[in-house]
Amino acid sequence: MATQRGGFSSRLGFILAAAGSAVGLGNIWKFPFEVGEGGGAAFVVMYLAFCFILCFPVMVAEIAIGRKTQRNAVGAFTALGHKKWSIIGYLGLTSGVLILSFYNVVAAWAFGYFIEMVMGNFEIGQHFGDFTADFIKVGAYSVIFMVGTAFVVSRGISGGIEKAAKILMPTLFVMILALIVYALTLPNAMEGLKFYLIPEFSEITGTVVYSALGQAFFSLSLGMGALITYGSYVNKNDNIVSSAAQITLVDVGVAVLAGFMIFPFVFSQGIETNGGPGLIFVTLPGVFESLGDVLGVIVGSLFFLLLSFAAFTSTISLLEVPTAYMVDEKKVDRTKATWIVALIIFAVGIPSLLSAGAVEALTKFITLPGPGTLDFLSFVALIASDTFLPLGGFLIAVFTAYIWRKENFNEEISHGDEEIKGTWLQSYVDFAISYICPVLLGAIFIVTVLDNYFGVKILNMLLG
Ligand code: TRP
Repeated sequence: MATQRGGFSSRLGFILAAAGSAVGLGNIWKFPFEVGEGGGAAFVVMYLAFCFILCFPVMVAEIAIGRKTQRNAVGAFTALGHKKWSIIGYLGLTSGVLILSFYNVVAAWAFGYFIEMVMGNFEIGQHFGDFTADFIKVGAYSVIFMVGTAFVVSRGISGGIEKAAKILMPTLFVMILALIVYALTLPNAMEGLKFYLIPEFSEITGTVVYSALGQAFFSLSLGMGALITYGSYVNKNDNIVSSAAQITLVDVGVAVLAGFMIFPFVFSQGIETNGGPGLIFVTLPGVFESLGDVLGVIVGSLFFLLLSFAAFTSTISLLEVPTAYMVDEKKVDRTKATWIVALIIFAVGIPSLLSAGAVEALTKFITLPGPGTLDFLSFVALIASDTFLPLGGFLIAVFTAYIWRKENFNEEISHGDEEIKGTWLQSYVDFAISYICPVLLGAIFIVTVLDNYFGVKILNMLLG
């Protein structure tokens, strides 16, 4: 079986692939604007705490479930003898399909901007709305992106996913460092860093708290079985606790580094930091323009290429989840499974593609008590990433601690690392997965639902 499914050829390969899944639009696009809206460093502090305290144990649990069973997100639960709980896997499949359907559209914006920057079109920032409304152009970019993703996934684990990660992740790292070094030389860079690094705790509201948690969860690719799936390709002798720690560190590191690049850029032009989702697509092209023709093209292209690479290793992991399900459970040949799934997801994404200005009814799709009027893309994001992921994470924690049971979980994590038994780290993971994760994730799920769908701001009321 193992040979038919394939697997990662090395621990490094797994870490890079999983870090590639984690590092994405969430780190470079979403993290900075959430920091901007959530009061700067205060948000960063909360985000870091959530990543290590709450998300890391869930990550270990997902990888352990995957490696133990060597199955996809649905089949893993059945293989452990708890067929009913494979509902978690189906929830994950649904989240994965929905997330990729809109994620690919945003990835297409990033890729489209790369092309615009290469051509020196800095005006694009002021025409962001026209750009996203041009569904033929964005549609073409999103086809390219999805085809590229499917191409890599169709080649399997070591020959596709791992290989892509081994090339893209180191390149991404070099690009981000080069951009930071440059950004720090700009005027007002220090003002940017101050905003970013000195916490203003009075800015913390209930909404900021749960968006920090949501961000941590999304950024680490948790709650939908992506890491169950990647975990299923991990070698039995690998140490999964330290792998998970390294993946978390890389992801958090890249998010933090992205801030060191974005805020100096933004402050160099004296622009407001709370630009929301447009912070990157609207604001940055103007910053690049101010660098002059040659340098502007270089820095601007490099930035959006970086963003596209980051998105690409994430779309790969999102596509792998339903693909692995088709391969394991439906016995479909991998290549065929990949292209079928990619086609379906692309189709599901068409309303999202049309919801950024092209079609009025999709652009002003729904009005909810919490967030107000949303376009279709944001609505799908709300359902899949803000609602389903914490729910999935909650269920995974409960399943691991109380259904699969901790003895089995601990036995799996000590495979590849006998020494972990009885260490504080193991005790912590054990404790967190039983109490901290179910309680906090369950609470976050409820708070998110009440706030967004019913307009009841419980956390804000509690925090005064
Ligand atoms: N983590 C990615 C990001 O930060 C997005 C992503 C990829 C994801 N795979 C996932 C999110 C699986 C949740 C689950 O952009």
